[in-house]
Amino acid sequence: MITVGDFRIGEEEKKVINEVLDSGKISEGKYVKKFEIEFARKVGTKYCVALSSGTSALIAGLLSLIYSGKIKKGSKVITTPVTYIATSNAIMLTGLEPVYVDIDSKTFCITPTNIENLLKNSKKDEYSLILPVHLMGFPCDMVEIQKIAQKYNLLIFEDAAQAHNTKINGKNAGTFSIMADYSFYIAHNIQAGEMGAIVTDDKDLTALVRQIKANGRLCDCAECTRNQNKCPKEPKDEDLDPRFTHNLIGYNFKTMEFQASLGLLQISKMDDIIRKRQENVKKLNEKLRKFENILQLPYYSEDISYLAYPLVIKDLSKISRLKMRKELAKYGIESRPLFGCIPTQQPAFSFLKDKYLGKLPVAEYIGKNGFYIGCHQYLTQTDIDHIGNVFSKILS
Ligand SMILES: Cc1ncc(COP(=O)(O)O)c(C=O)c1O
Repeated sequence: MITVGDFRIGEEEKKVINEVLDSGKISEGKYVKKFEIEFARKVGTKYCVALSSGTSALIAGLLSLIYSGKIKKGSKVITTPVTYIATSNAIMLTGLEPVYVDIDSKTFCITPTNIENLLKNSKKDEYSLILPVHLMGFPCDMVEIQKIAQKYNLLIFEDAAQAHNTKINGKNAGTFSIMADYSFYIAHNIQAGEMGAIVTDDKDLTALVRQIKANGRLCDCAECTRNQNKCPKEPKDEDLDPRFTHNLIGYNFKTMEFQASLGLLQISKMDDIIRKRQENVKKLNEKLRKFENILQLPYYSEDISYLAYPLVIKDLSKISRLKMRKELAKYGIESRPLFGCIPTQQPAFSFLKDKYLGKLPVAEYIGKNGFYIGCHQYLTQTDIDHIGNVFSKILS
């Protein structure tokens, strides 16, 4: 089977996991701290906080904006209807209200025009935040989105969970907003099993996210220094412990040393991994170019960090998505449907169906007719040739 994603455990991975085991500490410690420093350096932000998942990064990040008063409790958030469900779940679970605008058919990103059209007709202060997602690694038009945010006095929070190392005008996705989340889930461009991160230049928000991810405890240290008796948050009352005194209501979103040690290894291999994925997208595009009248191929750029190889069926008279995916599976090629349009095609959000049905035509089309196969770093030339031959067999 040619899988959508893959993660191979080699000698280096075994070595770092053993180092964690031998260190005697498997909960957050020196590897998590080192991961945060390295990932912030790689992305180009001042700070990074590692969390248990990309979902928890989104929730903790949004909550930090509410707790800090930077966005209003219960306010509206402009976001994308086509993404992994976690983005919308996090908005709902933090008591905010998602408002969906349609996407661009090539990048799958929300467009500045659609955002502005919504805002032009809105009441003052109705919206607080724009939450774009760089889906499949395709970058949103952050320069224009920044201009709109400034004009309407809104903040931006980028969901870069699928876009590690995607570049926009030479800068990393995730550096065009007050904060961004990343995911290191096993199926992503950069993998650590289950882990997420918040990146930001804001010191106070960093401290808040650290508190929120640890049940709102007073201690917001990257690595607890209490045992060395130098915790900066040591309460005046000697009898109180900053790890067990809580001045906020939070979650347990902490991660573990295992994931951080694997994440560190991945950071060291990141440029090669992303380059290999780009090469595979280029080769697959060459193989499938002859079917461009039937399929929309992913656009190629060396600025894109590809999560997978997304395709959209343009000519439904030739083949349906279901038939296509069944045929691919028959020849050993795994595929996944692209994410359904959240308010109209995801059962959990069916309470929004009547409001949005027919209003997000691109998202609904992609949600029904988009799918993806793998472009991961372990694909061989034989795999690529096989994929090309299988598509020819199915579509000719
Ligand atoms: C765009 C997007 N946001 C958030 C998440 C959530 O990340 P995690 O699976 O690590 O919770 C994902 C995961 O696939 C994602 O694709």
